[in-house]
Amino acid sequence: MRILGIETSCDETAAAVVENGTLIHSNIIASQVDVHKKYGGVVPELACRKHIENIVPVIQTALETAQLSLDQIDAVAVTQGPGLIGALLIGVSTAKALAYARKKPLIPVHHLEGHIYSLFLQYPDLPFPFLSLIVSGGHTEIYLVWQPGEYTLLGHTLDDAAGEAFDKVAKMVQLGYPGGPVIDRLAAKGDPTAISFPRPYLTDASFDFSFSGLKTAVRHYLQKHPNPDLADLAASFQQAVVDVLVAKALRAARQERIARITVAGGVAANSLLRKELEKQGQEAGIEVYYPPLALCTDNAAMIAAAGYSRYQRGLYFPGESAEARHLDAKANLPLC
Ligand code: KG4
Ligand code: ZN
Repeated sequence: MRILGIETSCDETAAAVVENGTLIHSNIIASQVDVHKKYGGVVPELACRKHIENIVPVIQTALETAQLSLDQIDAVAVTQGPGLIGALLIGVSTAKALAYARKKPLIPVHHLEGHIYSLFLQYPDLPFPFLSLIVSGGHTEIYLVWQPGEYTLLGHTLDDAAGEAFDKVAKMVQLGYPGGPVIDRLAAKGDPTAISFPRPYLTDASFDFSFSGLKTAVRHYLQKHPNPDLADLAASFQQAVVDVLVAKALRAARQERIARITVAGGVAANSLLRKELEKQGQEAGIEVYYPPLALCTDNAAMIAAAGYSRYQRGLYFPGESAEARHLDAKANLPLC
């Protein structure tokens, strides 16, 4: 079954064609980083305008790259939420129009379910159950994934997301947007023990996170040290974030007696997180799985992959049905 996936929840306009939830025929992403860079974060109005410009060419390129026509597509999957409402609307309206005009099933997909399913594009036979640590610019959550569609939320951030903390710290020292990749690169040249930043909630019994205090600690440090060694600052900050993420994920796995941890979302690209979780996971007898780097950040292949699973669970609407025509984008949408 070939699914056209569409993703427009934030600042990437993306379309992909994926077969049976695992085989990528095309995966096209029009990044808006250049548009938002000068503002140090995503500007919703600009994101919407860019999605409108990009959506049709991106879908056309996804079909051309896959060497398939729309008629050879079996269903359309689209991110319904959560995300920026204006941005989501562009993807949802386009998917509804395509599904209606071509009489294809329309599959609404939860953005985080997409991130969880990005793992199956790399590991088609990944066994259930597993823990999913989702770390992105908008989310920091640990889910227990029992089986397709059955999720338990074990912990979440009480304030900033991990990626957001990377972006805000990078902005404080004018490192550009998005901050994660820059801090990651800079940290490689720094000393992670140079500055002692707090590890928020590290010893807390819950699996919740908090990153805004860490961000404030960086701000206070900069007030006292206006010309810091940026590599040391990046390395020390990154170490603090990674220490908390790794400790909580491993503790959750041990407590729930789950021997597999998957990591997804933009921060899953972080080299220290990958290295530390792998090392400590190995010591604890827990297997750790990552999507390839290109599938960590937002993309539509993961939406098509999750869409395939939802289709198999009967969670779709015929394109011409009233349910499909009335499908709404949702800025807030719980996964479970
Ligand atoms: O999943 P994603 O593309 O978008 C959201 O759904 O939020 O994640 C983007 C986030 C940004 O905050 C970015 O700074 C962060 O992922 N990120 C990283 C790295 N690459 C991207 N954070 C840390 N280290 C990286 N290598
Ligand atoms: Zn995302």
